[in-house]
Amino acid sequence: MDDTTPERQLPHLLAAALAARSRAYAPYSNFAVGAALLDEHGRIHSGCNVENAAYPEGLCAEAMALGALVLAGGTRVRAALVAADSTQAVTPCGGCRQKLREFADDGVPVWSADAHAVVARHALGELLPASFGPDHLGPR
Ligand code: THU
Repeated sequence: MDDTTPERQLPHLLAAALAARSRAYAPYSNFAVGAALLDEHGRIHSGCNVENAAYPEGLCAEAMALGALVLAGGTRVRAALVAADSTQAVTPCGGCRQKLREFADDGVPVWSADAHAVVARHALGELLPASFGPDHLGPR
């Protein structure tokens, strides 16, 4: 296993997502979310949700983490983890599933954590089956 092996990075993904979650700006929903992504170089990028008074314009933690990954020169997502304090496993919203899909294969693990530990694992392809992607656009 190398540094891009998702399972090996799981403790680090969890720590990064929980740290990011502590920075969330969510005064409207009071639902703080942290996300962490593993890139193809074994680096971890994190993000938190950032809301604002125009409620629909808030940013999801996963989108913020994806922006950090791209800004750092990452081109692929090898694993994702989203952390939130909920009795049910929190998975990325529909829009974020599509955003992740741009940079991740169907088999990429998407872990869910509560405020302390991992509680669920899905493959991205389970969360967004038969998805639309870059290949549908044809050669460009
Ligand atoms: N949220 C995320 O950041 N990621 C998710 O996976 C689920 C929802 C945010 C959006 C909003 O700021 C708050 O959580 C409540 O929906």
